[in-house]
Amino acid sequence: MKMDETKNVSVSQDDTELIKKIFGDEFSEDTIRKTYSFAKLMSYYSCAMMEIETKFKVLNEEFSLRFDRQPISSIKSRLKNPISIRNKMLVNNYPLSVESIERNLNDVAGIRVICSFVNDVYMLAEALKKQDDIQIIEEKDYIAYPKENGYRSLHLIVAVPIFLQQEKRVMRAEIQLRTIAMDSWASLEHQLRYKKEFDFSVDMAEELKKCADLSADLDNRMNALRKKVYRDKETPYMPAR
Ligand code: GTP
Ligand code: MG
Repeated sequence: MKMDETKNVSVSQDDTELIKKIFGDEFSEDTIRKTYSFAKLMSYYSCAMMEIETKFKVLNEEFSLRFDRQPISSIKSRLKNPISIRNKMLVNNYPLSVESIERNLNDVAGIRVICSFVNDVYMLAEALKKQDDIQIIEEKDYIAYPKENGYRSLHLIVAVPIFLQQEKRVMRAEIQLRTIAMDSWASLEHQLRYKKEFDFSVDMAEELKKCADLSADLDNRMNALRKKVYRDKETPYMPAR
C-alpha cells in the first residue's frame, strides 16, 4: 500500500451519512477514512488466505485421487485481530498506520495446515514451493530443528498475488504445517503457557518437552508404518535433512 493511500480512500456521501447515523458525530472524516482503509487491507489478507487455502485443497484432492488417502487432516485459517495487530506493532516499535501493518507484519493472514503424517508436511511444502505464482520469503523448519520447549512445525512466510477488478496485489501470509500430534501438543502448550497467574516451573517445562518428544516419536512410528503399508509408492519426496 502506498504511503498516501489512506488519504485517497473514497468514502461516499451516503456511506458517511450512514456511519454518522450509526455512530453520531463521534468519528471524524479522517477516522472514517482510516477505518475504511484498514477494513480494505483486512479484506485483501482474507483473499490471500482463501487463495492459499485453495492451493492446499487442490493438492489434497489430487493426492487423494492418486493415492486414495488425504495428506491434509484439516486447515485452520485466521486473521490477526486488531488488538493483536496493535500490540505487535507497539512491541516492535513500528509506526501505527495501515501502511505500516502491511509493510511490517507477515502474520496478519495465518493458515495452519494440519497433516496426517510427517512426510505429508514436507510433500505439501515442496508442492507449494514449486508453484510459480508463490514466492517463499522465509522458511523455518522447527521439525528438523525443534524449539527448546519442544515445539515442532514447518513455518513458511509467503507472498501470494490476489487479482482484484482493477489491480493485482501481492500479500504476505504465514503458513504453519504440522501433524495432528504436533498440533494437539502446540494447542495444549499454548493454553498452559498463557495461564500467567500460575508459575511455570522448570519441572513443568521439562515435562512439556518430554511430551513433545513422545508425540514426535509417535509421529515417526506412524510415518514408518505408512511407508510399509503404502510400500513407498507415494511421492518419492524425502526431506533433505
Ligand atoms: P512472532 O510471530 O512474533 O512469534 O515471530 P517469530 O519470528 O518468532 O515467529 P515464529 O515463526 O517463531 O512463530 C510464529 C508463530 O508460530 C507464533 O505466532 C505461534 O503461532 C507459533 N509458535 C511459535 N513458537 C511456538 C511455541 O513455542 N508454542 C506454540 N504453541 N506455538 C508457537
Ligand atoms: Mg506470530
